[in-house]
Order: sequence, then C-alpha cells, then structure tokens
Amino acid sequence: MQSALNPTRLAGKLVVVSNRGSYVLSEHNELITWKRAVSGLVSAVEPILNSAHGTWVAWCGRLSNNTKKGVKIAVPPGAPRYTLQEVLLDEEEYNDYYHGFSNSCLWPLAHQMIDKCDFQRKYWWAYRKVNHQFARAAMEAAGEDSILWVHDYHLTLVPQLIRRRFPGAKIAFYWHIPFPPPDVFSVLPWSRQVLHGLLGNDLIAFHTRTYLENFIACAKKYFSLKVNPEHGLIWLGNRRITVRALPVGVNWQRFEQLAGDPEVRARAQQIRQAIGAEHLFLGVDRLDYTKGIAERIKAFGTFLEKCPQYQGKATLLQIAVPSRNGVEAYDRLKEEVERLVGEINGRYDRGYGAVPVRYLHHSLNEKELVAHYLAADVLLVTALRDGLNLVAKEFVAARTDGRGVLLLSQFAGAAEELKSAVLANPYDIVQMARRMKYALEMPPEEKQERLRTLQQIVKNKDSRWWWQAHLKLISLPHGWLTPEKSIAAN
Ligand code: UDP
Ligand code: G6P
Repeated sequence: MQSALNPTRLAGKLVVVSNRGSYVLSEHNELITWKRAVSGLVSAVEPILNSAHGTWVAWCGRLSNNTKKGVKIAVPPGAPRYTLQEVLLDEEEYNDYYHGFSNSCLWPLAHQMIDKCDFQRKYWWAYRKVNHQFARAAMEAAGEDSILWVHDYHLTLVPQLIRRRFPGAKIAFYWHIPFPPPDVFSVLPWSRQVLHGLLGNDLIAFHTRTYLENFIACAKKYFSLKVNPEHGLIWLGNRRITVRALPVGVNWQRFEQLAGDPEVRARAQQIRQAIGAEHLFLGVDRLDYTKGIAERIKAFGTFLEKCPQYQGKATLLQIAVPSRNGVEAYDRLKEEVERLVGEINGRYDRGYGAVPVRYLHHSLNEKELVAHYLAADVLLVTALRDGLNLVAKEFVAARTDGRGVLLLSQFAGAAEELKSAVLANPYDIVQMARRMKYALEMPPEEKQERLRTLQQIVKNKDSRWWWQAHLKLISLPHGWLTPEKSIAAN
C-alpha cells in the first residue's frame, strides 16, 4: 500500500466509491460492451461526476473468473467526462458480499423487513474482505486533496479503513436507503462494526430527518458520542462528524426540457394509443419487494372490482426493471407479480377494451421514461418502504402540463417533502384503491395546484442544490466549532 494518498493526481479530485457504477460491463471475445445501470444512486451521482470529472471506483457487474483485472475506462463512451475504475469480485464474493451481506442482511434490515434477513457468518467475512478491496482501490485512485465520496450500505467499512491509513483524508458518505430505528438495527449481529465503519467519515448524509435521527440513536447506543443536534454535529473522541438530511434532488431542467421535446411528446401520445385505455395508471420500479408492486396490483384489482365503470377503460402499466436475480426473495417476487398480473387480467379482461394490467420486464432509457411519465394520468409509487424514490420527483418535474397526479406511499422518503401528493398507506389495499379513484377523478384545478406546489419543492432542492450542500459541508474548516464550546452532551 502507498504511504500517502497518491499526490500525483489532480488536486481536489472527486473520487466516488460505490458498489454499483454507472455502467454494467460484459466481455465477449475480449471486447468489452456496456449497458447503463439503472438506479437512483446512478441517477443522482453521475451528473455530478460529469461536471466535476474525477473517478468512479465501482463494481461493474463482472466476475473475476471472466477476466483478470478491473479495467479503467473513460466514460460516457464517445464523450468521456470521468474515469470508471472497475473493482472485480469473484463468484464467492458476489454471492456472499453482494447477494449475501448487502442484499440479504443490510437491505431488508434497513427497510425493516427482518423476516427477509439471512444473517450468515460467511456473508460478514466476505463483506469485510470486499470492503478492504474497495478501500484499497479508492486510495489508489485518490490524490492528496481528493474528496472521497463513498455511497450506500455495501461499503460501510470503507471510510474507517481509509481513515486508519490517512487520518487527514476528506471522506463523505451518502446513505441512499432508509436508516432503521435502534430496535431494528441492533438485530444485526455486526451492527457495532457497521456503525464504527461509518463513523470514519467527515460527513454522513441521509434523505430524511427520520433516517438521520435513527442513525444518531443507533450510534449512541454503541459509542460514547457527544452530539449537537442543532448544528448536526457529533464527536467520537476528538473527531468531529457532520451529519445531515440532504434529500437527493433531480435535474428538473433536464426533465422539463425532455417533456417539451416534440419527439418525446409524440411518443407519449403513441404510448397512449397503443395502450388503448381512457385512463392510464403507471408504475416504474426496480422489481424489488420494497416497492409494493404486488400490493399495487392487488389494489388495482380492488379498484376495478369496486368501480366496475372503469373495467375495460382503465389500465395499469407496470414497468418492472429486473433486479438482483438470484436472491431468493427477488426470484419469488417476480413469480408473485407475474401470477397477480395473470389473475387480474383473467378476472377483468373482457376481450375488448383496455387490458387491465400491462407488464414490461425491462428498463427504459431517459426519453422513453419521460414519454411514459407524460402518457400517464396517475403515477403509482406505493413502496412499502423506500429511501426516497427519485421516480416520484422525476414525474413531478416532467409534468409541466399540470395534468398528472402522483399517488405516493407515506413510507417513501420522498413523502417527507412531497406532501401535496395523494398520500396512501400501501399496506391498506382498500384505501389505496379508493385513492386511485380519487386521483383519477380529481378536478383539473386541484391537479394543477398540487403539481405547482410539488414542482416548487423539486426545483428548490434540485441536484445542483444537493451537491453544493455537500461541498459546503465537506469544506468546513476543522475545529470551527469545538466540542468544548458547543456541545449539548447527551
Ligand atoms: N430508471 C430508468 N429506467 C427505467 C426505470 C428507472 O432510468 O426503466 C431510473 C429512474 O429515472 C430513477 C432511477 O432509475 O432515476 C430509480 O431510482 P429510484 O430512487 O426511484 O429507485 P431505486 O431503483 O434507486 O430503488
Ligand atoms: C438502490 C441502492 C443502490 C443500488 C440500486 C440498484 O437504489 O440504494 O445502491 O445500486 O438500488 O441495486 P443493484 O443491486 O442493482 O445495485
């Protein structure tokens, strides 16, 4: 390992470190091909690297038995703006660190679905090992003045590993998913180690105040911390850590621009015609059990049952992006969703008029996505729990026509901001069905008014605001507020 962060690199360089990068790579006959990765993390972080340049250290979907060494490539292909430094996993690491500890322990735990957790010791050992690999790759990519910006639950140990080697490094962390309350978090046998890893950061940010408060409550359970909630500061010994709720924002100008693009608008009309329904509900999600897709389809069935006047006239179009195939809970969900689609269609499809549920199992590119946002009457975001849900904000930004309605789960982080959406409890199927009817029959003035309020919120805290808030906090001179002067000791 090097004796200092690599000083030959560009001063002030941004080094992003996350499990999933912006591209999924595959190799055929020594030729590397790429596909865009689909996730809120990628949507949030990539625009920042596009303008700040720098390096993204990430796993890009390949296993090291296909290839020996991770590649370093300039991306986006054809018009490069930053460097993608690939970290390779072997098959065992992929199973035990990614599918295992990340997606069968931390993911369900953070979403408070303890029954889906599978705590295995071998998962933890693989997680530690892979976090060491990522920390090494990050330190190799960084220069003396670099800001290391680590992301999400896959890499909680990385900050402390870097801190141990380089006490003066500037390290920020963004936690993209919910942070559970202490009673839930402490179920994890390695909760103390995970928190210790996170406390290696200078800045830790979350989407909402609730997640932030949960994190502080969890950390206080295991460590003797001094906390100044008013200033969003905590001290572990002499080290000061800034903690904040900074919800991810969207590039609303981009969505406005796409929504005004004649090609996109024409495509939206084409989608409407092809669906052939008078009323269109839309769902856009990774196929994940946290997203409440099965509950949404059931609620749509109840809506058709209770409001027969909409049978043959209303369609639910569900875009389900394939995700985490190979994890049992995901494979089972796919089967359940497909069974429900068949069941509702079997019951309510009359053979003429609108097909009740249309189900697409693939992802859409940006233009197609906005065309679908524009084609819909109501977007259904019915997550059982969701860190934020960027799709909800994107829909709001795109509906410059003032005509769409957002039906939003009260358990999505976005609900803390987007209070003028039609809020619903996804566990209450009958209530959701009623809210679907309400959303559809809402007077045009109310739709416009709600959208106007929502658009103001989305514009005030957009993607630029998000990044500038980070930069401001990470550049705070150390010691500007000392523990002695200002701590309300807890
Ligand atoms: N997305 C996309 N194509 C699709 C579906 C989704 O590009 O077919 C993008 C969408 O624009 C959003 C992100 O994927 O930016 C999903 O983020 P979200 O926070 O809603 O959910 P996550 O997948 O991160 O849980
Ligand atoms: C969520 C997580 C991201 C993750 C994404 C897609 O948005 O916060 O860290 O990348 O889901 O999941 P995947 O397992 O495909 O990376």
